[in-house]
Amino acid sequence: MKTIEKSDIKILLDEATIQTRIKKLAEELNSEYKDSEVYVICVLKGSIMFTVDLIKHLTMPLKTEFIRLSSYGSNMTSSGKVNAVDISLPDLNGKNVLIVEDIIDTGHTAQFLTSFINHNFKVKTYKFISLLDKRCKREVNINPDMYGFEVEDKFLIGYGLDFDGYYRNLKYIGYIE
Ligand code: IMP
Ligand code: MG
Repeated sequence: MKTIEKSDIKILLDEATIQTRIKKLAEELNSEYKDSEVYVICVLKGSIMFTVDLIKHLTMPLKTEFIRLSSYGSNMTSSGKVNAVDISLPDLNGKNVLIVEDIIDTGHTAQFLTSFINHNFKVKTYKFISLLDKRCKREVNINPDMYGFEVEDKFLIGYGLDFDGYYRNLKYIGYIE
């Protein structure tokens, strides 16, 4: 059941702010990778919006892969346990791998994914990009190579981020007080 009214949502990052930043991040990636092929790995479900908008601005040859991890239940705190719902990937040996995440909170998901990739493949390059970085909540020593915005310790919804499965479709990122 939906428990948050739209009128209770405070906007933290509006649509234009998000899109402008994503374009900037894409430009940086374009100049770093140039014409090298990249495997873009979207971590479902949260990073669907970010991945879609980011790859529209990327100019190198790329392939998109989708994996599904879950760590949050339907509550508002990270469980610290990562559940690999679907982590089937092609052969990434010798490839440029770009992981795309919505948010790094405790860091457990990022750490799990990074060790999973390193354990299974000898990739050419590995980069982790997250739209949001909730650095103040970190429990493990891991940081994204690139991020869009550093955010405070608030439970955020919208633009891929959900509360109990809802609000992923919002064009902005907001929070509930
Ligand atoms: P971590 O493993 O604690 O770093 O959490 C990673 C995942 O938790 C993210 O990919 C999100 O799906 C989810 N998450 C973390 N913070 C929030 C939030 O504020 N709102 C919604 N989901 C969140
Ligand atoms: Mg996520």
